[in-house]
Amino acid sequence: MCALEQRVRQRSSARSSGLIALRTPLVFELDWTGERPLTTLRDLIPSRARARLRPLLRARPRWGNLRRSAPFSDRYGYDRGTPVDRYFIEQFLDQNRADVRGSVAEIKSSKYTDAFGGTHVSERHVIDIDSENPAATIVADLAARGSLPTRAFDCFILTQTLHLLSDPSAGLANAYQSLRPGGRLLVTVPSIARVDPDIGDTDLWRFTPAGLFSLISSSCERAEVDVAPYGSLVTAVAFLEGLAAEELAEEELRHNDPSFVVLCCGRIAAPS
Ligand SMILES: C[S@@+](CC[C@H](N)C(=O)[O-])C[C@H]1O[C@@H](n2cnc3c(N)ncnc32)[C@H](O)[C@@H]1O
Repeated sequence: MCALEQRVRQRSSARSSGLIALRTPLVFELDWTGERPLTTLRDLIPSRARARLRPLLRARPRWGNLRRSAPFSDRYGYDRGTPVDRYFIEQFLDQNRADVRGSVAEIKSSKYTDAFGGTHVSERHVIDIDSENPAATIVADLAARGSLPTRAFDCFILTQTLHLLSDPSAGLANAYQSLRPGGRLLVTVPSIARVDPDIGDTDLWRFTPAGLFSLISSSCERAEVDVAPYGSLVTAVAFLEGLAAEELAEEELRHNDPSFVVLCCGRIAAPS
């Protein structure tokens, strides 16, 4: 059938013959196997008119109350539920919980050591540069070479700290040398994330998966490295808006798109 014939077909015949009718009398016969019209709007509109129509035909955003200058939460969503990045950190640690065993070190507190290691942990060490932190068992600057014991830990949980160091590579190398043979270093760093409102002057870096892989490869000699991106367009928007993980659908949280990364996670295995 030629395009002209298609143009003049009436809606009534469309209904009876399984053709799709538009508001105008134009009808489009569908290629049912590919579910694609044999004649598309594109074929019917001259190219110059098409160029003028393009802005009108573009999908229009419906911002609703997302169009705002301040996020719903200024606390990463803590006041609404679980912050989206924390949801991903927990997912990553859950996937690697078998690594959390023996002598385990963590920065700031032992919350993830306790949550994911449980009874498999024989020693807990809490590292912090902040000597006022009552939970700290080792007060040390992670980025200062030699500040941590050598070959001391079976597992080092290094979450959300490297981006605060002026030299993240030195911090990684120091954490890595503190592992026992066969030990594991579990690292998370922010990718698409707001600047921390409380510590803006020490919030220094954001990472891509390739950037984290490169940093680890150059700082941790002979390590086996796995880097995984967590996040997607919708979870990144939700995180920036201060929405909580509980406000997203399970499928949205499970879908990871390497083009829109909220959190980069690295599992580093020291040779035995
Ligand atoms: C944003 S908190 C994150 C800590 C925790 N691992 C978490 O995931 O919630 C950063 C912690 O790193 C500590 N910190 C910052 N710079 C440090 C450094 N150079 N050496 C050791 N600890 C550092 C801070 O004092 C703070 O307790």
